[in-house]
Amino acid sequence: MKDYKNVVIFDHPLINHKIAHLRSKNTSMKEFRELIEEITTLMTFECLKDVPTVEIEVETPLEKCTQRVVKDNSVVIVPILRAGLGMVNGIHVLFPTARVGHIGMYRDEETFEPCEYYCKLPDGIEDKVVVVVDPMLATGGSACDAITQLKKRGCKTIKFMAVIGAPEGVKKVAETHPDVTVFVSTLDRCLNENAYILPGLGDAGDRLFGTK
Ligand code: PRP
Ligand code: URA
Repeated sequence: MKDYKNVVIFDHPLINHKIAHLRSKNTSMKEFRELIEEITTLMTFECLKDVPTVEIEVETPLEKCTQRVVKDNSVVIVPILRAGLGMVNGIHVLFPTARVGHIGMYRDEETFEPCEYYCKLPDGIEDKVVVVVDPMLATGGSACDAITQLKKRGCKTIKFMAVIGAPEGVKKVAETHPDVTVFVSTLDRCLNENAYILPGLGDAGDRLFGTK
């Protein structure tokens, strides 16, 4: 795959270790949910390293000093329903006050085109750092549409985070939205004839919520 300036592929041993368990068909729903959260937290560390900060004064037992802290209410998490919900807690661990907007999308089973069925975003989102999350970046249709919706509502700083990406989806988002940084913990081989990621992990929504 081409080297895109706006794409970060982690390929980190700690994340890869967890991905191995995530992929396994023998991993339980509980473990799957926990792994998605843990991987998201590890990715957030890098994804939000440029989050706005402010300087505050702190008194240590020895003296007063100034220290930078994360600016309150500067991050909004936007999960793409359903599977993106599984990543929200992983960011909340580090940014407990982050508000959450929801975009509901499902892929048409024949055309694989995304269909939006829900959108509810926090007031004032246009000035926040918006992190769109979805564990699976397959054709890239859902991610591209969600980002387009957010831009239509005035969002200027958008990041996209997926656990597993297919080259097709990474290319589509990177090229359609060059101003959005795409964070993918691991890059898989390709899509199959049903637009599922190979080797992938199957259907993330079903594995998170036990629907199949
Ligand atoms: C999955 C996944 C993404 C989308 C990725 O959702 O969670 O949202 O497919 O595919 P794309 O990159 O080709 O658009 P799905 O449609 O299965 O809905 P669900 O989350 O409700 O299970
Ligand atoms: N959605 C999933 O949940 N898994 C895939 O492999 C592709 C889309």
